[in-house]
Amino acid sequence: MPFLSTILRFYVIASLMCLSLVPPSSGIESRKVEKMIEESESQMGTELLVEKRGKALYYKFCIPCHGAKGNGQGNASYYLFPKPRNLNLGIFKFHSTRTNTLPLNEDLYKTIQNGIPGTAMPPWIDVLSEEEIHLLAEFIKTFSRRFSMELPDYEMPVSLEPPFDKLSIANGRIIYKQLRCGRCHGNEGDSEDRLSGSIQEFGGNLSFVYDLRRPDQYKAGAAGPDIYRTLITGLDGSPMNAYEYMRDRELWDLVHYLQSLFFIQPSKPTLTDRKIYSQTIKEKIDLKPDSPIWNGVVSFEISLSPVRARKNPITRLTVQSVHNDKEIAFRLEWEDPIPNGAINGTYLDQSAVQFALNQDNISDGPFFGMGERNKPVNIWHWRADVRQKIYNDDNLKPNRSHSILHPPSGLLLNPFMESSVEEINSEGFGTLSLQPVEDQQLKGMGQWKNGRWSVVFSRDIKTPSRWDIKFSSEKPVLLAFALWDGDNKDKNANKMVSFWNILTLK
Ligand code: HEC
Ligand code: HEC
Repeated sequence: MPFLSTILRFYVIASLMCLSLVPPSSGIESRKVEKMIEESESQMGTELLVEKRGKALYYKFCIPCHGAKGNGQGNASYYLFPKPRNLNLGIFKFHSTRTNTLPLNEDLYKTIQNGIPGTAMPPWIDVLSEEEIHLLAEFIKTFSRRFSMELPDYEMPVSLEPPFDKLSIANGRIIYKQLRCGRCHGNEGDSEDRLSGSIQEFGGNLSFVYDLRRPDQYKAGAAGPDIYRTLITGLDGSPMNAYEYMRDRELWDLVHYLQSLFFIQPSKPTLTDRKIYSQTIKEKIDLKPDSPIWNGVVSFEISLSPVRARKNPITRLTVQSVHNDKEIAFRLEWEDPIPNGAINGTYLDQSAVQFALNQDNISDGPFFGMGERNKPVNIWHWRADVRQKIYNDDNLKPNRSHSILHPPSGLLLNPFMESSVEEINSEGFGTLSLQPVEDQQLKGMGQWKNGRWSVVFSRDIKTPSRWDIKFSSEKPVLLAFALWDGDNKDKNANKMVSFWNILTLK
């Protein structure tokens, strides 16, 4: 806060000058001045800290997306939708203050801590300390002059929530129609699109409307008070305006109507099992995804975000891992109502596990979207080719908005085809290289049943190549996950990704 501290310093100097002219009349005055000097010194201390450590943290973690100048044009930005925020504008979507005013420090803190669901902006809660997040929040304020010219407004109060009942929902439905929320969100809140490119954010980036029936895609939270706050504050810079002029009761009715549309369980979208482990087993590793070796093995929940916002993103997967003396295996499972194998199209379902080759600490890890120069990653990639088994299931109920296409049943075409998995290395976007055939030791197999993919990867624990991830019980390993949904035409950088997780061998 350079401006504030300049005022403070000026004030201190001015009062000191007064004091030298007029002898202090009482001890109270001089104590007051001492306190002010102290405050202004500690103020400068924070400034220095922000300038040094805040900046260093920003360079380490935020540059790939937000860019060195904070203009939102980092190297990864090209691949992302929505685009990373241009921090020079000083316009923020998430704030507890009145619309078109600056966010509070706590608002910025919350955004950095929790990330932004449905976008590439990761949660930093497990990576950075409280102090570091505060320093970052202070540092990003230096990118916009707005913070030295304006003060944030007060926090807008959220009133007590009335009961969530039929009457409130019915009223909410009427208000939703009257205010024509459906212009952008669809008549049932189910529009999920970029509205043919017709709506933009301030600054010209394309906007995306998320399916309001999916609580896991609410960026500012899907609990009653969170949605209420979104409605009274608006998402500044986006086409989502503030509706603060409405009557309190009407706002709550709207909130309840939206919540009545939820078709999946609200869960904290950023909740993820950051620390995962591989269990020891005595049996031989069996590639079959429904093998009994997986019985009783702990499964970990991983949350995913789309690199590019799209309809129906898959936002969760579970992972398990086992190892014996010789081999290690991972089983990834996720819900996908439509299997896209080699039989029914060009866009295949795919998944990948990405390992950081030389780092075992998230804060030194490479950029999680495909590594970075001098910080290579090793990727295990699976695709739903003809080897994968797909079961038909007539009892399957659609759990997403579109209907289920029935895939051909029990297909296991040619089990002797070349492998469905590959080992790849990368040092950042656009640097993928397939390992030579002699280095491809990875095995894998997938199975789709009851609306769910189950995919097993397995490899020898020890391999000769220096481009392969090394597993040992002494050193943890950084790993991240990715999914491609063929039905959504996912391909290449169009995918869902997790942030880094830490694997240890038990
Ligand atoms: C992988 C890319 C990526 C990285 C890394 C990243 N961000 Fe973001 N960030 C985004 C995207 C994308 C958005 C915009 C999301 C949206 O508009 O909904 C965003 C938005 C923001 C916002 C704006 C929130 C608002 O209220 O409008 C802040 C603040 C922010 N990021 C801070 C940070 C900080 C601090 C770091 C580093 C610790 C960081 N980001 C790292 C992608 C990233
Ligand atoms: C002019 C188009 C437009 C209108 C009209 C509109 N919205 Fe939105 N709304 C958006 C866009 C765009 C977003 C997504 C913004 C983003 O994520 O960047 C959004 C986001 C939201 C969100 C999600 C907030 C979150 O946490 O992610 C809610 C809830 C919402 N709108 C409710 C409403 C309601 C209720 C109305 C009517 C009172 C309404 N909107 C009217 C465009 C609109």
